[in-house]
Amino acid sequence: MSTFLEGRMKTVTLPPAKTGRKARELPARRRAAACRQAQMGFIGAGGFITAHHLHTAAHSRRMSMRAICDLDQKRLASHQKEFSPGYITADYRQVLDDPAVDIVVIGTKQDLHAKFIIEALDAGKWVFCEKPIAETAAETEAVLAAERRARGRLAVGFNRRFAPAYARVKRLLATQRPPIFINYRLMYPNPQKTSGYYAGRERIVYEGTHILDLVCWLLDAAPTTVYMTGDRYRNNICVLEFPRGSRVSFLCGSMGSYLLWKEYLEVFTAYTAITVSDFVDMRVRGFPGEFDEVFPAHLGEQGRELRAHGFDFYEACKSQEALQTIGDMPFEAVRRPVREFGPRPFRKQTDYRSSFVPDKGWVQSLEHFATCFLKDEMPGNADGRAGARANQIAFRALESLEARQALAFAGRAT
Ligand SMILES: NC(=O)c1ccc[n+]([C@@H]2O[C@H](COP(=O)([O-])OP(=O)(O)OC[C@H]3O[C@@H](n4cnc5c(N)ncnc54)[C@H](O)[C@@H]3O)[C@@H](O)[C@H]2O)c1
Repeated sequence: MSTFLEGRMKTVTLPPAKTGRKARELPARRRAAACRQAQMGFIGAGGFITAHHLHTAAHSRRMSMRAICDLDQKRLASHQKEFSPGYITADYRQVLDDPAVDIVVIGTKQDLHAKFIIEALDAGKWVFCEKPIAETAAETEAVLAAERRARGRLAVGFNRRFAPAYARVKRLLATQRPPIFINYRLMYPNPQKTSGYYAGRERIVYEGTHILDLVCWLLDAAPTTVYMTGDRYRNNICVLEFPRGSRVSFLCGSMGSYLLWKEYLEVFTAYTAITVSDFVDMRVRGFPGEFDEVFPAHLGEQGRELRAHGFDFYEACKSQEALQTIGDMPFEAVRRPVREFGPRPFRKQTDYRSSFVPDKGWVQSLEHFATCFLKDEMPGNADGRAGARANQIAFRALESLEARQALAFAGRAT
């Protein structure tokens, strides 16, 4: 997998052909892959894709922006100016019919995911789709069927698998035996989702699937029993039973304060414990020779300060930023015992740094997929089966909510 920094170093021109002995020893396929760039076609390039995947592709030496498709003409014009893709279009079929497009990135909202995944796979493309892969059980099955018959690979945008902190948790857990107990908190107020597109859609599906996939990946298993309580759309507590005594509790909701960071992971085995606060602050206990770690934010922003002051710095900065975003609400910034920075320690924002956010693995997940395409290797991203499993757990959790009892889970995709 490419490193994070490599991913940021865009080389538009192809590297010169190598002539030394080492180059001659490289197998022909690898040599070709080293010189090529995956041709990327984006379908749906709105808020999230603009903030993340377009910039990742634009700064990557492994990707080239062949096409951007969106229905919003103003957005398209702005993308044309900023990213200079091969072409822009409002017709997604043009992207799918283009033999030069290698990888299709689907970034529409979720009601179109299943349709576009299926059509893109059937068109012979490799496909990277944002979560969730589908909205219903029937659509989920149709995506699985398309994946089974496809020549290309499907990756789901469960980027947390690529967050550096969580990748380390995964490596540490490989040394441990079940039972493993996990507690995950994903809590942040989001009033913008009380109306409009997400109003009648369940958070456990459109966001909770991220974590449902994460815990299955960490435990290398699917749950056997699912229970969820709370309300249908916004605030939930899930309890998942896994084989060999492992258990997960998952708080998934829209409550809390803008001044408290959003995500928290705790993992326990018989004599070890790991906690990760918002992808940044990792505490590792009981693993011989292993130490705590502070991870840089997305794109390495404020890396020096974070390493110097740790999570106190992060929390104080995040709260200052939240206060700027939410305007004149009567809150005070969180005051952590960090003295060395003033009221606004951020460097001037350059290119696409719209905010100080943790590294959730967005860049790495797309880089990895493009690299695997070029090398013709099996990607380590969540595939369609993992995407289906996360959906099926979420659907079962909603059934359990209605039934007000724990339900057995036997997902077909696992
Ligand atoms: N992985 C993450 O951390 C993360 C975070 C936020 C959002 N997301 C996901 O990203 C996706 C997009 O979310 P968003 O908030 O950017 O939505 P958005 O509404 O801002 O963008 C969607 C875009 O799709 C375009 N579109 C709609 N129909 C189209 C069509 N037929 N052809 C071409 N384009 C079409 C729209 O014009 C719009 O520009 C969602 O699936 C969401 O779940 C992922």
